[in-house]
Amino acid sequence: MSRIHAGAVVTGAGRGLGKKIAALLVECGYQVLVTDVDLATAQDTADELGGGTTALAVDVRDHTQVETARDAIVERARRLDVWVNNAGVLLTGPAWEQDEAARRLIIEVNALGAINGTVAAIEAMRGNGGGHVVNVVSLAGLTAVPGEAVYAASKHAALGFSLSTVADLRLAGITDIDISCICPDGIWTPMLHDKLDDPASALSFSGKLLAPDEVVDAVRTVLDSPRLVTTIPRWRGLLVRLGDTFPRFGLKTVPLMVAQGRRAQRKLRSTGGPRNL
Ligand SMILES: NC(=O)c1ccc[n+]([C@@H]2O[C@H](COP(=O)([O-])OP(=O)(O)OC[C@H]3O[C@@H](n4cnc5c(N)ncnc54)[C@H](O)[C@@H]3O)[C@@H](O)[C@H]2O)c1
Repeated sequence: MSRIHAGAVVTGAGRGLGKKIAALLVECGYQVLVTDVDLATAQDTADELGGGTTALAVDVRDHTQVETARDAIVERARRLDVWVNNAGVLLTGPAWEQDEAARRLIIEVNALGAINGTVAAIEAMRGNGGGHVVNVVSLAGLTAVPGEAVYAASKHAALGFSLSTVADLRLAGITDIDISCICPDGIWTPMLHDKLDDPASALSFSGKLLAPDEVVDAVRTVLDSPRLVTTIPRWRGLLVRLGDTFPRFGLKTVPLMVAQGRRAQRKLRSTGGPRNL
């Protein structure tokens, strides 16, 4: 889909998945505003992508910074068509071993950040041709994730907020704004690069470690045809939902999943990381 002159914003796009999503949007013909809490990486991404891509420092926890980004793209492109809430942080370990600052950071970036971005985007899209909010969630938004409990809480919040907001939009008679949630398994991005020695993040390695491009393909698909929830890979989505439907059964499988994740981490460590991603 090519929508020349339409504006798009990606948060947390200085590196990792966000950078690749920004590249996809440039390829699709959007005028892209690359944002990140780290301005230097956002600027590098924008310079690399070219095509009139611009950069702005935005900490998604701060709604005024988020609104400034929204206003900047509207001024430049006239319309905001796509807003991707991608910024995220992962700090692992049982909740009781994390200090308050760590717990707050995870919830504020992953949950409040997605809320700030979605609300800012809706304000610009409403009555102005509509648009599409893409929220990068996680399979951790659908199930229990030992070692990543606060992260899972933040992603459950992001998913619950997104689906509830779609319901609110429809109840308000607003049908030209969509929200699509992308729920991937572990992705080989900088978020996981330093986690091969971390037993608490075993679950992130227990399924199919995804290449960022596999997730970008899913974003490409929802840009063409919005979809409330996309799990990647689909079979893991079905598995985690089964575990969630029967939580006692789900929790019984946890030790097996942790062991599988630890094996995968050890293997990746011995080979210096995945060769094919
Ligand atoms: N990597 C995975 O295994 C995985 C799996 C499922 C979902 N996700 C989600 O995918 C998204 C992208 O993560 P990634 O894997 O590319 O990680 P990453 O760590 O490589 O990139 C995250 C980006 O977010 C930015 N960021 C952090 N705090 C911010 C803040 N307060 N405001 C704005 N930007 C901020 C970082 O600077 C960084 O550029 C996240 O929402 C993450 O939770 C990742």
